[in-house]
Amino acid sequence: MRHYFRGRDFLGFKDLNREEIQYIVDLSLEFKRKWTVREPHRYLEGQVWAALFEKNSTRTRNAFQRAAADLGVTTIYLRPDELQTNRGEPLKDTARILDRYFDGLFIRTFGQEIVDEYASWMKHPVINGLTSLAHPTQGIADIMTIIEKKGEMRGLKLCYAGNPYNVCNTTMLFCADFGMDMSIACPEGMFPDQAIWEMAQERAKKTGSKITVTQDFDEALRGSDIVYGMTQYAMGHSQEEIDKYHKMFAPYQITMDAMAKADSEAIFMHCLPAHRGEEVTDEVMECPQSVIFDEGENRMHAMKGILAAVAL
Ligand code: CP
Repeated sequence: MRHYFRGRDFLGFKDLNREEIQYIVDLSLEFKRKWTVREPHRYLEGQVWAALFEKNSTRTRNAFQRAAADLGVTTIYLRPDELQTNRGEPLKDTARILDRYFDGLFIRTFGQEIVDEYASWMKHPVINGLTSLAHPTQGIADIMTIIEKKGEMRGLKLCYAGNPYNVCNTTMLFCADFGMDMSIACPEGMFPDQAIWEMAQERAKKTGSKITVTQDFDEALRGSDIVYGMTQYAMGHSQEEIDKYHKMFAPYQITMDAMAKADSEAIFMHCLPAHRGEEVTDEVMECPQSVIFDEGENRMHAMKGILAAVAL
């Protein structure tokens, strides 16, 4: 099966079509089945991958390292402050050296251009573990979760409330590809990445899905099958910016009253970490509609699908 993707980078849904995303989702669901019945799956025995995290992580790092261990892959964690890049060594030199040592690079960093540049200098695959533009490993786990909880994706509506950055961009693309409507509720003046927005609109034409941005939270919630919460600000924002976003996003807090405006069978999703009392209440996080821990578990199964697909 692996020949389909072998050696390719996994940088964002912008580079993948619907069939390719579906392929990785199916692989991930199969790994989840194997995990559930304790069927060994050490298909990548002997591989050694580097894991470079330039930002904090609980789910992505541990999901990746656990997934790698189950596949027989050794991971070497690279601390950015210990690398010579921290003292000015060019990325293009670092990338080509890492490429000589490792079977692949998993990286969480700031700008998408950093991940893209690593990929351009490395022959081995690079997996994007989050940039300011995209969070595609999260996207695979989210699609898995929606399929598990709702069955068919086509025709569903997802209400997204929170910062319209990386997770929003990734979600727009998969909603467009899989025929889901997405209504992004956020304050005036905030908007997803323009290029990804235009790409999502193009892709949505093929499936008939509607991707919209609105300041009207009630409109976004109406008829939603999924209410997706996201933090009001991003890692790296200053306290001044955080305070500003708290005020701007206050009307978009996901409460039980807000959930009641969605479909009666709606589920609540959040990529986590969540800030209880800010973008979402504690009550919603803990309510029966909340699927956040199943979603979080799927991060690990998704990592296996992605690794197995791209590994050489
Ligand atoms: N959702 C997510 O990426 O979580 P972490 O920041 O903990 O990796």
